[in-house]
Amino acid sequence: MPRIIVGQMRLSNLSDRDAFNFLSYTRESGFNHYDHADIYGDGECERKFGRWLASEHIDRSKIIIQSKCGICLKNGIKYYDNSKEYILKSVDQILTRLNCEYLDNFLIHRPDTLMNADEIAEAFSVLKNQNKVKHFGVSNFNTAQIHYLKKSLPMPVEFNQVQLSLAFAPMISEGIEANTYSNNGIDRSLGVLDYCRANNITMQIWSPLQFGTFAGNFIDHPNYGNLNAFLGELSSKYGVSKSAVAVAWILKINQNMQVLTGTCNQQHFSELSRAEEINLTREEWYRLYAAAGYSLP
Ligand SMILES: NC(=O)c1ccc[n+]([C@@H]2O[C@H](COP(=O)([O-])OP(=O)(O)OC[C@H]3O[C@@H](n4cnc5c(N)ncnc54)[C@H](OP(=O)(O)O)[C@@H]3O)[C@@H](O)[C@H]2O)c1
Repeated sequence: MPRIIVGQMRLSNLSDRDAFNFLSYTRESGFNHYDHADIYGDGECERKFGRWLASEHIDRSKIIIQSKCGICLKNGIKYYDNSKEYILKSVDQILTRLNCEYLDNFLIHRPDTLMNADEIAEAFSVLKNQNKVKHFGVSNFNTAQIHYLKKSLPMPVEFNQVQLSLAFAPMISEGIEANTYSNNGIDRSLGVLDYCRANNITMQIWSPLQFGTFAGNFIDHPNYGNLNAFLGELSSKYGVSKSAVAVAWILKINQNMQVLTGTCNQQHFSELSRAEEINLTREEWYRLYAAAGYSLP
């Protein structure tokens, strides 16, 4: 299982030429797993990727392509749709934009309160039988929502894509501070980290370098002085960038973790992808967590 997935959300910011150079660079560097969603760049990220596949004559069987649907943005109005009709229509549109016959992985982007698990099961079965999707998963689902879906699905839920970083770690703190009066101990995901591990659901981590939700990158950010000081120390010790140490912190949690990178910059990607080369000690892992401002009771 590749542990680093090349996230495509920001690809539409690049010209075709720069995007193709970046994508070819990731392939040449040994990375073969790409994450899309129908809403990224309003479809332009998938279209750009599809043009790259065609122009470079990429061997489809050598790469893993995944996409997601379920978040709708129409005329500035946002809502969620996990209905069968929407999923089937959306996957067809995704495949057209990507210039592909199938997706390796398809994920529901966000839980829709109005979803019906039997209907989703029907949609997934159609996609599987038509050979349009090989593997299925979800994104931003809590334990109860996955459990609800699993009861109807004839196939396993193989992935759950969720936000986690050193500066955004409620999923970790709810375990560490369980059964305390601390707000960080409030269980917001219903123990999704341990649930996924116990049920062999791979966690795909998004925004590994962000604080808040798309609020900014914490590397060298003045609000994260202690964290950056210790990241700097470890970066010197291991001979890798701070970003690589921050990603290594996520990969260390367990073997079930994949990290989605967001950079479209070759230099940043090459630095960050060295995360796989280092193995933080247990003490370093907890010191980074504490340096990010979390408590250890
Ligand atoms: N399932 C979901 O709900 C969901 C939500 C959001 C994202 N995602 C997925 O997760 C992927 C990653 O999300 P993200 O883009 O927020 O991740 P990220 O890796 O935390 O952030 C990437 C951003 O940080 C910047 N950056 C600044 N310094 C950097 C450095 N030293 N190294 C690397 N990046 C640096 C990048 O700019 P440069 O390009 O200039 O390096 C880029 O703008 C997305 O592409 C998407 O596939 C999923």
